[in-house]
Amino acid sequence: MKEEIKLKSYPHKHLLGIEGLLPDSINFLLDLSQKYVIYLKDNGKKLNILKNKTCINLFFENSTRTRTSFDLAGKKLGADMLNISVASSSIKKGETLIDTAMTLNAMQPDLIVVRHHDAGAVKLLSEKVNCGVINAGDGPHEHPTQALLDALTILSRKKTISGLKIAICGDIMHSRVARSNIHLLNTLGAEVRVIGPATLIPKDIESLGVKVFYKMKDGLKDVDIIIMLRLQLERMSGSFVPSIREYFRFYGLNRDKLKYAQSDALILHPGPMNRGVEIDSELADDLDRSAIFEQVRMGVAVRMACLKALVKCN
Ligand code: NCD
Repeated sequence: MKEEIKLKSYPHKHLLGIEGLLPDSINFLLDLSQKYVIYLKDNGKKLNILKNKTCINLFFENSTRTRTSFDLAGKKLGADMLNISVASSSIKKGETLIDTAMTLNAMQPDLIVVRHHDAGAVKLLSEKVNCGVINAGDGPHEHPTQALLDALTILSRKKTISGLKIAICGDIMHSRVARSNIHLLNTLGAEVRVIGPATLIPKDIESLGVKVFYKMKDGLKDVDIIIMLRLQLERMSGSFVPSIREYFRFYGLNRDKLKYAQSDALILHPGPMNRGVEIDSELADDLDRSAIFEQVRMGVAVRMACLKALVKCN
């Protein structure tokens, strides 16, 4: 049996993606997140761990959950949080990403959290600044903190990830959540499947170590976890599905399709949800089957762990 290695700290300067992280690094962040879950449940009062540290939230794309949970997580740890809204910044005046990075760097922040509509943009920015950078989603590429909070939610209900059958369903093509989850769940030993229409599944996805299914009936057979994805219309040029009605009929999760999975299968969704498009509204609200709001709660703990792990404290 492999000797268990317990890391004392996260061994990287940035968190740009899950791809390439060793199980120990992922487990380190999950263990720390678990401690913050307990702390939030117990009292959740403000801590001083990141007192006098400054974190910048730089979001080039819309966000509700991710931005506010980073903001809340930082405040719980005692950090000063700056939220830069692209709509009111010089970015709208044509400042390049590199200039923005260098301007923010000159203010000597301790960490920058970035969401950007282009794959690779967050890595580019990380190369121009001195502090740590967390990727809060770069185009269709990666969204590492979402995969971590999904894993934390699964662990809280199923106690393990290794050996679970997990299906990721819907718009795999445009989803950074799918990509980060595939890397994380495979690294921790799950059997990962993707299900969706051929138009929404990238041709080379099998090379990431997943089985591809085009029918919910086949792909959901015996799964323990179902991760539903939003149709990411903002990333689609042209028509990928015949109509929303057809899409719901074939790929929308409802109680009938849920019967193909294990009887205690858990449903996840990163949000925002399109009720009646990828998931039946009543099923989404069934707290026995759906962990969608628990994911949001786990998101604060995961972001606390990531901030704590990346901000250098002397
Ligand atoms: C996801 C994202 O932004 O990639 N949402 C999130 O972070 N909560 C998924 C999505 O937008 O559908």
